[in-house]
Amino acid sequence: MDSRRIGPSVLSADYLNLGQQLQELEAAGADYIHFDVMDGRFVPNISIGLPILEAVRRGTTLPIDTHLMIVEPEKWIGPFVDAGSSTITVHVEATAHLHRLVQAIRDAGAKASVAFNPATPIAAIEEVLPLIDQVLLMTINPGFGGQTFLNETLGKLRNLRELVDRVNPDCVIQVDGGISASTIGAAAIAGASSFVAGTSVFHGKGSVAENIQVLRTA
Ligand code: DX5
Ligand code: ZN
Repeated sequence: MDSRRIGPSVLSADYLNLGQQLQELEAAGADYIHFDVMDGRFVPNISIGLPILEAVRRGTTLPIDTHLMIVEPEKWIGPFVDAGSSTITVHVEATAHLHRLVQAIRDAGAKASVAFNPATPIAAIEEVLPLIDQVLLMTINPGFGGQTFLNETLGKLRNLRELVDRVNPDCVIQVDGGISASTIGAAAIAGASSFVAGTSVFHGKGSVAENIQVLRTA
């Protein structure tokens, strides 16, 4: 089996038919569900929150990977774990106490993941790398689905792969933003092992299952 994972982002799903879409994703072999939380403060957009997360938890047995794009994430770890998150991702740019926050995620019973934006250097997450289960290298500026993959993040991704192999080889490297059939290969070669995809899964040429298959073979 391939160790590479694909996690559809339900940010691009049809909320009126969310239960059905989750069943389609599961049948199509999605590895996990990516759940994007935006507060209109950390990013210039507001998305979905706890009640929808609870519904997603009831609608699938897949792991839920929650991406918090919010200020004061320390206030929200407990509620988002209780609502069903398997993994919680927090942004290094959103907290003054990343180490404490990572500990809090673990203590609440979820896997700990840290994200960093395109302009944030690897050094900002280096000290916590040995302590986390996943690192999310943003390949767009967070806030919206449907943006163009930033090619300039590939060099950073290669450097991150080197560092992760050295200090915590079990840590998953996830990429998020603009992942499609034309970008996923380059991201995989550069070192990513887990791929979030919204637009290309839900608004691609084929069915959800066909679109996921296209990503896997690309
Ligand atoms: C954007 C979110 C992404 C988004 C990706 O801030 O973090 O997860 O859903 O969407 P696409 O795949 O359309 O770039
Ligand atoms: Zn995301």
